[in-house]
Amino acid sequence: MTRKLIPGRLVIASHNEGKVREITALLGPYGVAPVSAGALGLPEPEETGTTFAQNAALKALASATASGLPALADDSGLEVAALGGRPGVYTADWAERQWFEGEKGRDWYMAMGKVEGLLCEIGPDVDRSAAFVCTLCLAWPDGETALFEGRAEGSLVWPPRGTMGFGYDPVFLPHGAELTFAEMAPEAKHAISHRAEAFNKLVAALF
Ligand code: IMP
Repeated sequence: MTRKLIPGRLVIASHNEGKVREITALLGPYGVAPVSAGALGLPEPEETGTTFAQNAALKALASATASGLPALADDSGLEVAALGGRPGVYTADWAERQWFEGEKGRDWYMAMGKVEGLLCEIGPDVDRSAAFVCTLCLAWPDGETALFEGRAEGSLVWPPRGTMGFGYDPVFLPHGAELTFAEMAPEAKHAISHRAEAFNKLVAALF
C-alpha cells in the first residue's frame, strides 16, 4: 500500500515560477502548506537523468533530504511527434541562451521558434501533433519516492497565441479545444493539463 501524505508542510522542488504557481493552485484544497525550494534557498540540482521520471526523482530527493520535509518535484516537457519526441526531457534546455558573459537565461519565444523552424524544414504537410508530458515525484526525507504521470495531447500552432500560463503554452492547442493553453484561464488549463492528470493520480494515491 502506498504511504500517505500527512497534511503539513510540503516543499515544491522547483525553481520554475510557472510550475510553482500551478502546483500551489492544484494543492489548494488538500491541507498542505507548500513552500518552494527557491524560497527555502535550496540548491537546484543538475538534471542529469535521461527520462522525466529520473529527473523528477533526483529533484524531489534533493529537496527532501536538504529540508527534512516531504518534497514534490515536477519534470515535464513537450514531445513533438514529427521530431521523434524531441525536445522531450530537454524542453527547458531548448530555451537556454547566453544573454551576456556568465549569465544564462531562458527565452521561450526562441525555443518555440526552434521547434517551428524544424517543423518547417520537414515541409508544409508536416504532422503538427505534440503532447505535454508531466511526471510528478513525491519524495520523503528517508528516501522513499512515489511517481505519477500525466499527458495532454494536442497540436502546435504558429504564431504563438495568448499571454497566460508559461513556457510553450502559447503554441499548444489541446485536442478538441479552440484556445491554446496560454489563451485559457488557469482553471480551464488545470481541468485538462498533463500536470493536472498526474496530480489527480497523486491525490488518489497519497491523500
Ligand atoms: P523541467 O521539467 O524543469 O526540465 O522543464 C520542463 C519545461 O517544459 C518547462 O520549463 C516548460 O518550458 C515546459 N513545460 C512543462 N510543462 C509546461 C506547461 O504546462 N506549459 C508550458 N510549458 C511547459
